[in-house]
Amino acid sequence: MNERPIFCLGIATSPRLGGNTTILLEKALAGAAAAGARTELVTLNSFSFSPCLACDGCFKEGKCVVQDDMQLIYEKLLSADRIILAAPIFSMGMCAQAKAMVDRTQRFWSTKYVLSRDVIIDKENRPSRKGIFISTAGSNHKNVFDGALQVAKYFFLMLEAEFAGNYCYPQADEKGTILNHPEALQEVYRAGLDLARNSTSTDPSNRTAENI
Ligand SMILES: Cc1cc2nc3c(=O)[nH]c(=O)nc-3n(C[C@H](O)[C@H](O)[C@H](O)COP(=O)(O)O)c2cc1C
Repeated sequence: MNERPIFCLGIATSPRLGGNTTILLEKALAGAAAAGARTELVTLNSFSFSPCLACDGCFKEGKCVVQDDMQLIYEKLLSADRIILAAPIFSMGMCAQAKAMVDRTQRFWSTKYVLSRDVIIDKENRPSRKGIFISTAGSNHKNVFDGALQVAKYFFLMLEAEFAGNYCYPQADEKGTILNHPEALQEVYRAGLDLARNSTSTDPSNRTAENI
């Protein structure tokens, strides 16, 4: 039986510090903390790392040979029991900062599909891994979250974390405007709570608060 608290990692990927996705992430982490999780918010902007170089260096051992700050992020991603990815929509996809991090999970793709190994080797001694995706967009375009959602699902698959839902809010453009939408803040707080409680009440259907 695992005695340690669930570790819930939140990754704020927007370059706009204190922006809408980060506000939502903070709420979700507050929910997770209320459920007893140990939480950590990582601001990707404060780390320096290159995009994937497609050098295939990870094909040998499943480790990324590029020695930059992504090595610190890998450690956090591997040790987390719950992962909350928060990324705004830029040009109809997730922001470049988030996508660069996802591309660097190529080492996990390589572990799984080149080396045929598990990414999480001590699964049976750990709580099950789960993740949720949080996003905002300025517009209300019908498909505005579709691309980012596909990438988020891929990210969690590579991390061997079950995708436990997405919380995507359109028509939230100005910095901080999401604060005017308490239903969105409440929804992500609840999602964080459920995520850390190991509840099955989160579902992977696309949640979008319409007309905000
Ligand atoms: C470079 C850039 C590109 C954007 N592209 C889109 C877009 O394609 N569709 C959209 O609806 N909003 C777009 N937006 C608006 C953001 O998605 C929106 O402001 C979001 O709330 C930002 O989240 P943040 O405050 O967490 O950074 C864009 C914003 C920027 C800065």
